[in-house]
Amino acid sequence: MIETIYRSDRMLKTCREIEGDRIMKTRILYSKPVVEKIKDKIKSKVIAIRAQGKRAPCLAAVLVGDVVSSSIYVNKKASLAREVGMESKIIRLPNNVSQEELIREIYYLNQDDTIDGFIVQLPLPSHIDSNNVIESIYPAKDVDGFHPYNIGRLWLGNFSLVPATPSGIIDLLYYYDIPIEGRHVVIVGRSNIVGKPMAALMLKENATVTVCHSRTVNLSSITRKADILVVAVGKPGFISSEHVKEGAVVIDVGIHRIEDRELAFEVADGDVDKLQKFNEKGSILVGDCKFYDLLDKVSAITPVPGGVGPLTVVSLIKNTLTAYCNREKIENTNLTFVNC
Ligand SMILES: NC(=O)c1ccc[n+]([C@@H]2O[C@H](COP(=O)([O-])OP(=O)(O)OC[C@H]3O[C@@H](n4cnc5c(N)ncnc54)[C@H](OP(=O)(O)O)[C@@H]3O)[C@@H](O)[C@H]2O)c1
Repeated sequence: MIETIYRSDRMLKTCREIEGDRIMKTRILYSKPVVEKIKDKIKSKVIAIRAQGKRAPCLAAVLVGDVVSSSIYVNKKASLAREVGMESKIIRLPNNVSQEELIREIYYLNQDDTIDGFIVQLPLPSHIDSNNVIESIYPAKDVDGFHPYNIGRLWLGNFSLVPATPSGIIDLLYYYDIPIEGRHVVIVGRSNIVGKPMAALMLKENATVTVCHSRTVNLSSITRKADILVVAVGKPGFISSEHVKEGAVVIDVGIHRIEDRELAFEVADGDVDKLQKFNEKGSILVGDCKFYDLLDKVSAITPVPGGVGPLTVVSLIKNTLTAYCNREKIENTNLTFVNC
């Protein structure tokens, strides 16, 4: 069953005050039910694999340095792997590790038969060339899907390991029964990890795709044409109601912790719950979109937090299972863009 969650009572009240009796039914696309469904599917598959006497799939993560956010992400990934019955391993290297030493570590992981897939947590320290590192990962174990071989396969429409964030967004749209085929999808941002692979996946889903970036002229005239607008700009509250057309679906990939009061009040203007949280905690999480400003205009929108973020982690675990099944030659068709 598809769960449709409308804005909270508190938000409704605020909107009525502003707009008289107008009550819009904007769907908030929470990722939690999607994540739970995918997790359950992975868990059942791992149980079935183990029941055949086979070993559990194993995910490894290489963490360089002591950046707190990277460490949190890696721990989340490892812990979710364990939660679904997989093995996980974290390889911690010091911040001053040389590129050669890091690539040697990757070589060991490529050779290690007990590891099905691994990631090198980005960003890496500035003395290391990330592209070189990514290219040294064996494509069959590249569960981030960033290796040029996997990116090439993605654009050819014949993919296996797909970058996690865009893959999770497709799952989310499927789960909420939001059609993609024939829709005009506008993506703001052309990074290798979000914007570009998102464009490839949307094309595969038969959308008409436009990709915007920092040199795009008259951005809002393009974003206003979007049936589905995917925003991965990395700027808090960058997209506001003037950028969207009535009834659009908005996917907000950005995530930012804001401690600056003025910025918090600008991005979350009118959002009583969010601003109260800021007053209590001294910070809030926001996306690349002004969520509350868009709420009355769009038909559906992902929240931040609780939207795209959790999908990224579960999609990585899904890729790990895919890598395992590819290696063990086990069929794994029920995990591709789930009709959850
Ligand atoms: N929730 C998750 O799991 C998840 C995963 C990945 C990323 N994120 C978040 O998503 C956001 C984007 O991440 P990313 O790695 O894709 O970012 P990124 O590598 O910094 O790319 C940002 C993109 O936005 C474009 N851009 C910048 N300013 C613009 C402007 N004024 N108008 C139009 N386009 C503009 C850039 O264009 P140019 O190419 O021309 O420079 C670039 O393509 C960040 O907030 C990040 O933290 C979240």
